[in-house]
Amino acid sequence: MTGEFDAEKLAGTDADGEGVLSWRALLAEAEQRFRSAADTIGLAPGGAGTEARWVVEEASGFEGAEFDHGLDQLATVRGVARFDRMVRRRLAGEPIQYVLGHWPFRHLDLMVDHRVLIPRPETEVVTEHALAELNRVSRGSEVVLAADLGTGSGAIGLSLAVEHRRAQIWLSDRSPDAIAVARANLAGIGGPATRVNIVEGSWFEPFGPDLLGRFALVVSNPPYVRHRLELDRSVADWEPAEALLAAEDGMAELLHLVETSPRWLRPDGALVLEFSPEQAPVVHERARHHFAEAEVFQDLAGLDRGIVARHPRPVGQSG
Ligand SMILES: C[S@@+](CC[C@H](N)C(=O)[O-])C[C@H]1O[C@@H](n2cnc3c(N)ncnc32)[C@H](O)[C@@H]1O
Repeated sequence: MTGEFDAEKLAGTDADGEGVLSWRALLAEAEQRFRSAADTIGLAPGGAGTEARWVVEEASGFEGAEFDHGLDQLATVRGVARFDRMVRRRLAGEPIQYVLGHWPFRHLDLMVDHRVLIPRPETEVVTEHALAELNRVSRGSEVVLAADLGTGSGAIGLSLAVEHRRAQIWLSDRSPDAIAVARANLAGIGGPATRVNIVEGSWFEPFGPDLLGRFALVVSNPPYVRHRLELDRSVADWEPAEALLAAEDGMAELLHLVETSPRWLRPDGALVLEFSPEQAPVVHERARHHFAEAEVFQDLAGLDRGIVARHPRPVGQSG
């Protein structure tokens, strides 16, 4: 089978909506088409089979052990239509995460689409450091306040809410689209959602003055890319530019957060930021000016990926 898919032809059109092609045949078709297009859609060797499986899982609804047993069942017309749409989108270069519509991040399965950045494995490491800071500061049954600024899908902040049972979390983003996605994801986390507030606006702007000096943790993965040309095509063409690009060689938002967060933090609180490896020296230097301690940490590839800055110096006494 080559060329365009035709859901009705592929599946047949009998009264029950049951078709003539098995999911196994569709899996093979998707894998072959992804493999042929691998270079143009930026698919790594071996990725075609994995992505074809994800698409069939999504279209068929089969998961885990069910998947292998379900492969010999005939696909329904509706199932083939879903499969067809997903394969076409992926072949047009759209990232697989948007095509599937959800993506795992730590313990969560987050809804993602073109309105938000796709959450990255590096950011899981940043979240681990943020969680460690919350654990350091919180004692006994005390409720601790944390803020995830530029929350996007809600990846960092919602993880904190699920993984730290005494944290009250504020999520903010300037993009109304991102806020809508974060709210949809909030609805999916169950009980911990009662400890989360989502607000729209630039960095700390949406917070009232009653929150000054009260956060145990401020964490952010802000935009930090210098120029669109530094991005892979699949990122530049599909992910929101306002989530990625920052002025002043990518440093503007990082330095703004280093300078403004001390007044929102408790004396024992911490700022945790994600950045690009070459930005580490400048962010470190600025953080040591505004905080008593600052340590750069590495991602899973061993690259400088973020900073933990603890104990903000009182405003006006930056050292
Ligand atoms: C790199 S994305 C991070 C998204 C998410 N936190 C993650 O790690 O996957 C940066 C986010 O910051 C938001 N953003 C950009 N400028 C902002 C600003 N001035 N105030 C608040 N949010 C901002 C963008 O809308 C985007 O959602």
